[in-house]
Amino acid sequence: MSIQSPGLFIAFEGGDGAGKSTQAARLSDALESRGFSVLRTREPGGTPIGEKLRSLVLDHGHGTIDARTEALMFAAARAAHASQVIRPALAGGSVVITDRYIDSSVAYQGAGRGLGAEGVLTLNDWATEGLHPDLTVLLDVDPSDGRRRRTAGDATEDRLESEPDAFHSAIRHAFLDLAEASPSGYLVLPASADIDTLAAEILDRVESLLADRVPGDRS
Ligand SMILES: Nc1ncnc2c1ncn2[C@@H]1O[C@H](COP(=O)(O)OP(=O)(O)O)[C@@H](O)[C@H]1O
Ligand SMILES: [Mg+2]
Repeated sequence: MSIQSPGLFIAFEGGDGAGKSTQAARLSDALESRGFSVLRTREPGGTPIGEKLRSLVLDHGHGTIDARTEALMFAAARAAHASQVIRPALAGGSVVITDRYIDSSVAYQGAGRGLGAEGVLTLNDWATEGLHPDLTVLLDVDPSDGRRRRTAGDATEDRLESEPDAFHSAIRHAFLDLAEASPSGYLVLPASADIDTLAAEILDRVESLLADRVPGDRS
């Protein structure tokens, strides 16, 4: 970690429909009710330029976007997010909860689009000046369950969600590979568990990180 601050940085990762937004909101509410300053944010987005990039990269109708262009657009949005939003909030002592971060690019562009994990990680290390989460909560979802959940009601799928199950299966395995490579930085949970059980397990892990936190030490 290249900054010194008392904040805590948590990322929610996993496939579409895994329950990231649901659990990010639950964790944020639980921590706020315990008196913590919390910043909940999402990717792509989180800044005005990031939200514009979000709609460019996720909406249908901008023609073909090749894999490298797509990876650079996500990394550009993330660079703004890291420098303008996440770092200042961490420096101010907040708990930052982001709905997706670097792992999503490694999974979607690295594995899903076939660019490879290494190049996408290097690009994103550069974009964020090496800002990585203290904890990544990976909600591991079966691609068909994810699709069923996100298309419940009349929701339409964005440009990436509408990719076939094989794409989402490659993504799932890329997320799991990242967690396996650095187990201490991950909490991997089955997305099929019930919402309250997941929320309790996540809060438990985060509370233990907060208890262990030494102000000024994020190394
Ligand atoms: N653990 C769960 N069990 C059953 N349904 C869930 C669970 N978590 C979320 N959902 C539902 O699945 C849908 C997708 O959840 P969401 O949090 O939007 O996923 P994501 O942000 O990962 O795409 C929502 O309708 C949500 O209410
Ligand atoms: Mg979501």
